[in-house]
Amino acid sequence: MSKDTKYATTKEKIIAANQIYATYPLFNRVLEDIYECHYSPETNADSDPDCLLLIGEAGAGKTTIYKTYAQNYPRQETDEGSIVPIVYTPIPVPATVKGLVEAILKKLGDPLYNKGTTTNQTSRAYDLLAACQVELIVLDEFHHFIDRESQRVLRNVCDWLKNLILNTRIPVVLFGLPESKRILEVDNSQLSRRFTYRHELIPFPRNDSGMKLFRQFLSDIEEQLPLAEKSGLANKSMAERIYYATDGTIAHIMTLIRKGATLAIKQDLKRLDLEILNTVYERHLKHEKPFKYTEPFLVKRLDFEGSYAFDISKQRRRAFMGDGIFRNGRSQSQSLSLCFGL
Ligand SMILES: Nc1ncnc2c1ncn2[C@@H]1O[C@H](COP(=O)(O)OP(=O)(O)OP(=O)(O)O)[C@@H](O)[C@H]1O
Ligand SMILES: [Mg+2]
Repeated sequence: MSKDTKYATTKEKIIAANQIYATYPLFNRVLEDIYECHYSPETNADSDPDCLLLIGEAGAGKTTIYKTYAQNYPRQETDEGSIVPIVYTPIPVPATVKGLVEAILKKLGDPLYNKGTTTNQTSRAYDLLAACQVELIVLDEFHHFIDRESQRVLRNVCDWLKNLILNTRIPVVLFGLPESKRILEVDNSQLSRRFTYRHELIPFPRNDSGMKLFRQFLSDIEEQLPLAEKSGLANKSMAERIYYATDGTIAHIMTLIRKGATLAIKQDLKRLDLEILNTVYERHLKHEKPFKYTEPFLVKRLDFEGSYAFDISKQRRRAFMGDGIFRNGRSQSQSLSLCFGL
């Protein structure tokens, strides 16, 4: 049965298209390491649990890794109360001990989560974590531990987190933007030492091995598309167009494919073609790519490396039109080196 006939209605097909996901080697590796941390209180019976930090730019796929892992550990309601194997919460802004402990209490179902002193709330959180048999705590948006205005690492929340790990022996997984790395580096060696697993999600690299992984990812995605015919997404030339449009960032790749599939299903088309991909690119991605001068789905043949080189040379020319000094005081060549890794 083809993927097209498996789903009966247009709506079902659109929902299916929007739920497609695929793995890649680092995705699986992070899942395995979260599992190691999760069960480390059993394996490291005499020492602290292992914890994990996952960093990555916006849209790199961090939260999706949590969602995938958590599918196997659903919350259960019993006569004795809730069993919550994994507690997940984004870290509130501004990150305060009170805000963080309240977020955890709320997730554990404490109706009075915002009542009491911080000490009292912390002690209630410890009790509830035990009562709900929590095995893993996942905190998203870890970069909120850096104060936005002053850029200082908020040491009091770091200390609170360290005590949480020491007192409860529950492993913690943190997700955040790349700057989160600094929190563990500059502040708190006692906290840092607990984070024995660290990973960074980066876009698919634009080199031979990166493009091989990228094409495999596209091929896995294509297998799941609820469309009647193959779109050839992983063909070299199509993959290069998609890469140029998205720079290998998962969020952009999936916007292109999910929105493209949605349009194709609505228009009763059998596959994704250049026209549909161009429509999605124009509507949803182009504004994110102000320094791209090639239309990846309009050109007859994309000169992949040439297009990237042209974008850089255009940027250089734009920079020369100024006074040669960027607003931040860096020289033009210094800034270009930072922007493009030259
Ligand atoms: N492995 C994957 N397969 C398919 N789609 C994915 C995958 N990983 C992420 N996505 C999609 O990419 C988009 C961004 O993913 P996600 O929200 O996990 O990123 P994030 O790193 O948490 O971003 P942010 O820092 O903005 O919170 C989502 O639409 C998500 O569904
Ligand atoms: Mg996220």
